[in-house]
Amino acid sequence: MREFQPYFTNDGSVGLYSQDYDDIYHSASGALTEAYEKFICPINWDVLLLHEDINILDICYGIGYNTKSFLNYIFENKKKLLKKKNNLKKNSKNNFEKKTNIETIHTNNISKEKTVNYSETIYTNNAFNKISVTAIDNDEILFGLSPFIKTGVRNFKNNSDIINKHDIDKYLNRKNKNFPKIKNIINFQILLKIAQNSPKILRNPLVAPILDNREYKKFIVSDLRGVNKYLLTYLSSGSFLFNLHNIYYRYLSYCYKTYLKWYKIQDFNLTVKIDDARNVVKEDRNLYNLIFLDAFTPSKCPCLWTYDFFKRLYEIMEDDGMLLTYSSSAQIRSAMKEAGFEIGNIYNERLNKYLGTVAVKNNSLINYPLSDAQLGLLNTKAGIFYRDENLNASNEAIIAAHKIEVENSNRISSSQYLKIRRNNGL
Ligand SMILES: C[S@@+](CC[C@H](N)C(=O)[O-])C[C@H]1O[C@@H](n2cnc3c(N)ncnc32)[C@H](O)[C@@H]1O
Repeated sequence: MREFQPYFTNDGSVGLYSQDYDDIYHSASGALTEAYEKFICPINWDVLLLHEDINILDICYGIGYNTKSFLNYIFENKKKLLKKKNNLKKNSKNNFEKKTNIETIHTNNISKEKTVNYSETIYTNNAFNKISVTAIDNDEILFGLSPFIKTGVRNFKNNSDIINKHDIDKYLNRKNKNFPKIKNIINFQILLKIAQNSPKILRNPLVAPILDNREYKKFIVSDLRGVNKYLLTYLSSGSFLFNLHNIYYRYLSYCYKTYLKWYKIQDFNLTVKIDDARNVVKEDRNLYNLIFLDAFTPSKCPCLWTYDFFKRLYEIMEDDGMLLTYSSSAQIRSAMKEAGFEIGNIYNERLNKYLGTVAVKNNSLINYPLSDAQLGLLNTKAGIFYRDENLNASNEAIIAAHKIEVENSNRISSSQYLKIRRNNGL
């Protein structure tokens, strides 16, 4: 952990500021709002819902807003998603039957067998049978804090007591009146999964003092602090098989009941990787339906925006998968393109604004293609991407090599390109 500087963002969720990077971890408009707008709204549900088991890769998990928003969304929209899923399956069954009618002339047995398979899977109780999230961040303490971070806080004071108020305020604009909330049950899920799969995180000696610090109290979900203390008692007594039943009686009757209900509905697993994301993806043999890329800005953390990193992400993404990120820079997009991805915009209707980039293998998944101007920019100097051939160079070395490549390039600059377009009346 570099340092813990929490503050309330515009939507009443907690944001962090990093002095080392002089960067905020979360958007000024609200940490949770950003997660929904950039990582959940652009998901192509028509494609995702056709899967029973899904794999999600959350790169730069931080305090977990993107994973939590996903879980919260499917929890809150279960009925809607289920209906959509069953319609999609019915449609694909109809399409399939139309096709098989023709096919039966030649391959009667096979098509008959396939039709039976389809009808068996049409009526399911769940949007997904299994959701597996692999979450990567090189900061263990953020994982430890992630289940406890408050959202939906109204009437928060204007962060008057934070240390670097001035540094943070320059990023904020407080117009948002929306106070989205992550349900406690989702935080509870995350806490239990961390306790089950990576208990050493909760034992980290720096986590408990933050949770117990009176200064941070207003940022922390107090119910879950109690659960955490209970879990730690079990962990330190050497018995990892903590007793949910006791937790229920002591702290969380409502949450526990909902949890059990939810558990029956969804099989959820969280695999935590505390490492440089490059090391994790090098070794990873999974295939992902969704990849969330939420690294610090490219100029501050270039190692997670290189052509070579995207090439590896391409290899571990399903053919109908989606990579989502907030960056729309030409440099990032050309690296993605070079790595084999098809690129589109993330468009937000509420704001009538492009908010980032979606990268896919299948062009038909793109709803908002790049404009001619955006495509043209990829071939200017602004489109020269970072490289990191062995996925192990330092940020400084990546930036230095990139600078030399830009200086030696005879491409036109982005401003020259835009001027030419303007002169041609485009
Ligand atoms: C913009 S924040 C991500 C915010 C996060 N998605 C959330 O919901 O809180 C960037 C994160 O990248 C992590 N990070 C920085 N360099 C990294 C690296 N090389 N590998 C993995 N994580 C890294 C930081 O610890 C930080 O949590």
